Amino acid sequence: MRKPYNTRMDRTFSVAPMMDWTDRHCRTFHRLLAPHALLYTEMVTAPAVIHGDRERLLGFDPAEHPVALQLGGSEPDELAQAARIGAELGYDEVNLNVGCPSDRVQSGRFGACLMREPVLVRDCVAAMREATAAFGIPVTVKCRIGVDDQDEYAGLAAFVETVQQSGCTQFIVHARKAWLQGLSPKENREVPPLNYARVHRLKAEHPRLTVVINGGISSVADVRTHLGHVDGVMLGRTAYHEPYRLAEIEHALDGTPLPDRDEVLARLRPYVEAHLARGDRLQHITRHILGLYQGLPGARAFRRVLSEQAHRADADWSVVERAVAARRDGARERTVVAS
Ligand SMILES: Cc1cc2nc3c(=O)[nH]c(=O)nc-3n(C[C@H](O)[C@H](O)[C@H](O)COP(=O)(O)O)c2cc1C
Repeated sequence: MRKPYNTRMDRTFSVAPMMDWTDRHCRTFHRLLAPHALLYTEMVTAPAVIHGDRERLLGFDPAEHPVALQLGGSEPDELAQAARIGAELGYDEVNLNVGCPSDRVQSGRFGACLMREPVLVRDCVAAMREATAAFGIPVTVKCRIGVDDQDEYAGLAAFVETVQQSGCTQFIVHARKAWLQGLSPKENREVPPLNYARVHRLKAEHPRLTVVINGGISSVADVRTHLGHVDGVMLGRTAYHEPYRLAEIEHALDGTPLPDRDEVLARLRPYVEAHLARGDRLQHITRHILGLYQGLPGARAFRRVLSEQAHRADADWSVVERAVAARRDGARERTVVAS
């Protein structure tokens, strides 16, 4: 059984940073399913951290710990300032995005195009580490196995070895290249082939580094296979679309009892009601829970009620109750038809 997060930072199992998806509501929900997973924020650019609305961009609930702040940027001074702000706010880790391929990100000279600039990444990470040293939190890097024509293992190893000179020892590697021209960010998560062997080799040849693998991992069996080669696994889209997988992985790794899905919702209720009382819309929270019953009879009825009713200005917890009831009815109908 692993220790709880507050005695040691554990990155065996994490949920990926995902823009527009892994906001504080989503993370709170994921935390209920996976008490030991390390959760990541959406990427926030360093200037936004420094100049933006901190509560809106960076606010989080204590229940989310352990939670890592992902930053985007390529200016060492800015990143240092942003990392320090994150540490002061209580984030458990600061991570630098070296994997996002969108045009907007490239024009700001950060994200995946930084795979070509390991010395700059090293200097950024060194500055971030110095700025957060007093807080004792790790600064980590999330990168790709390469970009464009960087086709060799040697390119990834050289990148990591240069960045490591900053003192950074923890790398999360999305096991596919990014093509910086011609593919949308979505295509860049699907078209370049996965190359897990390259990430496994990185760990084998750099045993002192902590290497977390990401990309296309979706089942307990996948997780177990990768943990035979690397220190941790990070799940992205599967965690979002089929969140109960988080509970299954948590159960497999930690022995945490599998929670009943309806009970997970009951435990989310106080959080939802507190946010509704502050003026948040129900839909902003429930959009993250649509996949909770994925694969079970009645899942579609659950999603339908939430999609049709949660956006209304006066929508409250009763909408979720109706969605749960509709799911049960849907499941019962299927049983009757089948029998
Ligand atoms: C909607 C969406 C938004 C994403 N936003 C980010 C981001 O802000 N920062 C980042 O490093 N990666 C981002 N990613 C990439 C994921 O973190 C992850 O590397 C990728 O989805 C591959 O993992 P998966 O196959 O488990 O989904 C995003 C992915 C998705 C689907």
